[in-house]
Amino acid sequence: MTIAITGASGVFGRAAAEHLLDRVDPGEVVLITRRPEALADLADRGADVRRAGFSVPETLDPAFRGVHRLLLISMDTIGARLEQHRAAVAAAARQAVRHVVYTSVPEPVPGNPALVVPDHAGTEQALAQSPMTATMMRNNLYAHLQLAALEQAAATGELVTNAGSGGAAYVTRDDCAAAAAEVLIRESYEDAVYDVTGPRAYTADDLARMAGARAGRTIEVVSVDDESFAAGLRSAGLPEPVAELITRFGAATREGYLASVTSAVPDLTGRAATPLEALLAGSPV
Ligand SMILES: NC(=O)c1ccc[n+]([C@@H]2O[C@H](COP(=O)([O-])OP(=O)(O)OC[C@H]3O[C@@H](n4cnc5c(N)ncnc54)[C@H](OP(=O)(O)O)[C@@H]3O)[C@@H](O)[C@H]2O)c1
Repeated sequence: MTIAITGASGVFGRAAAEHLLDRVDPGEVVLITRRPEALADLADRGADVRRAGFSVPETLDPAFRGVHRLLLISMDTIGARLEQHRAAVAAAARQAVRHVVYTSVPEPVPGNPALVVPDHAGTEQALAQSPMTATMMRNNLYAHLQLAALEQAAATGELVTNAGSGGAAYVTRDDCAAAAAEVLIRESYEDAVYDVTGPRAYTADDLARMAGARAGRTIEVVSVDDESFAAGLRSAGLPEPVAELITRFGAATREGYLASVTSAVPDLTGRAATPLEALLAGSPV
């Protein structure tokens, strides 16, 4: 069986590749990336590293040749990636890939205000309409992305949020990568969906308590609306698209779209999902 990973030089892609290479014969592993030179060490371990990118469609068919199971890692160009994802799905189908594992988002439904939803929903739809079977890995928010807000809260004594009393089940990127690698090595060709989450959902109150315990001070939660929250991010120097992205994830959290907690990580990997607290203590992100 030949197993491939696209975007294999990204942080998630490399982590998934390393988990995979620990579990299967490296001769079965194809790593697809725009930057093969970044994966020279994994080529040395025996992986077949192929140069391709979704924005250069003619590179896709050769890259997917002979592949049975494919991890398709979503691009990082939010709002401008759906067409490239569709082209990648079409190329995989042309090359008779049998099963695609895709990195999606929890609840990619029309009411979910998270900015990333339309791209992921569109890609999931393209996969559903393809002749291939697929596993959607609906990864919750990466846990390490919360660390800056926790540090800021510890420094200022305030945690400003637009998430209200909503919780999010932050998950580490490495847990997501390990779970994806386990799905890749299974010989199952059924459609499947996993909500990939951390071990619990954290509200703003939980985050404030955590930051406070670390800083040895009380942190006040300051709840604001989306507009004020986005304005605060902009005035702190964040570019508009980043401010919008974070604000819309806050709204999705407030509305409950990120709160589900599942046992996907332990079920798939056999190891406990990493809690956010462990990141503060220095665990891998
Ligand atoms: N759940 C979350 O909280 C969260 C947060 C941030 C991002 N994400 C998503 O998860 C993905 C992986 O996260 P990460 O942390 O590993 O991101 P990253 O290190 O920034 O990597 C970006 C990824 O996008 C790929 N990519 C970019 N342009 C591409 C193209 N033209 N064709 C094919 N692949 C392309 C890169 O592949 P190569 O460079 O190897 O070609 C790489 O895998 C992101 O791309 C994003 O879709 C999720």
